[in-house]
Amino acid sequence: MKNKPLIDQLEKTHTLDLTQWEALLSQWDDEDRAYAAGVARRLSQQRFGTTIYVRGVVEFSNYCRNDCLYCGIRHSNANAIRYRMTKDQILSCCQDGYQLGFRTFVLQSGEDPWFTTDRMADIVSSIKKRFPDCAVTLSIGEMATQAYQTLFDAGADRYLLRHETADQAHYQKLHPSWQSWNNRMRCLRDLKAIGYQTGCGFMVGSPYQSPHCLAEDMVFITAFHPHMIGIGPFIPHKDTPFAKEPAGSLELTLYLLSLCRIACPDVLLPATTALGTIHPEGREMGVLAGANVIMPNLTPHDVRKNYQLYDHMRSVDIGTNLMQSDLEKRMEAIGYHLSISRGDYHQEGGQAC
Ligand code: 5AD
Repeated sequence: MKNKPLIDQLEKTHTLDLTQWEALLSQWDDEDRAYAAGVARRLSQQRFGTTIYVRGVVEFSNYCRNDCLYCGIRHSNANAIRYRMTKDQILSCCQDGYQLGFRTFVLQSGEDPWFTTDRMADIVSSIKKRFPDCAVTLSIGEMATQAYQTLFDAGADRYLLRHETADQAHYQKLHPSWQSWNNRMRCLRDLKAIGYQTGCGFMVGSPYQSPHCLAEDMVFITAFHPHMIGIGPFIPHKDTPFAKEPAGSLELTLYLLSLCRIACPDVLLPATTALGTIHPEGREMGVLAGANVIMPNLTPHDVRKNYQLYDHMRSVDIGTNLMQSDLEKRMEAIGYHLSISRGDYHQEGGQAC
């Protein structure tokens, strides 16, 4: 174990320089990872106890105008069977979710031009009207500043937009030339300035990613101060240009989750679907590495099977009641429990991420 001094420094100062991050991320072993997980778990438990927040995800459209080289619902994937849910279907998913015990709904889709700002604003305000005690999170991609403002005014509370990579040259290797890293960063700045609880994030082990790229991700994150960070391993999708690329590593993902928790102790940090897909107990491992959020899927099964960002996407299902679900049992088995609260971001004390 070489990295204890840097991990301890990160805990104290919540920041490292690029070279230090690169050192932390280019050479590490299982002992470093276990040490980081121990610190991360302690910090997480100081803030959240053994509570895990849940968010119900509604994947309401898989149409996408973008062409991200890694993603199964990219525009050029002619094999993807496209679907789009109606407003009523979306509301009825939320209704089911509410009954199950969810108090946050995450509306996620490809960048589908059919859902104009006005249509989305109508959907958001209808959900907020019907479920005033719930938070609405949007995860619908890049939009104009004014569109983000309109959706915020309609009642949206949070927004997830992974930055994907903080290295502009790396970004261009993962996306066609007309998708712009600058615009993505502009979106993230806008979202935060408007007042959304804002989430960024990246894939671990995406093609061409180096420890230097990951170091840049961590420098970006500690400067941006997101409220949420979504991290999962890259997993190839058979109908994309990256079909033959290897998946990201479970261990590196867990290590990065711990480092994110240590850098940003108050952050809402999900054990993601991709983590649960590369290992059947990936979500438990994520929680034990410092994650405090799990995002079960509320999408109806007949369309969910077509929302395949990567091969064999394994989402969590809740039967009829959150508190009696398999997921709750799985959390209890590792000493945690699910919470039925909105689970908003709170900053503890002064100097946090
Ligand atoms: N493997 C892992 N994660 C992926 N995403 C998209 N495609 C893949 C893939 N092949 C992630 C991206 C995106 C989020 C919705 O899903 O980071 O932002």
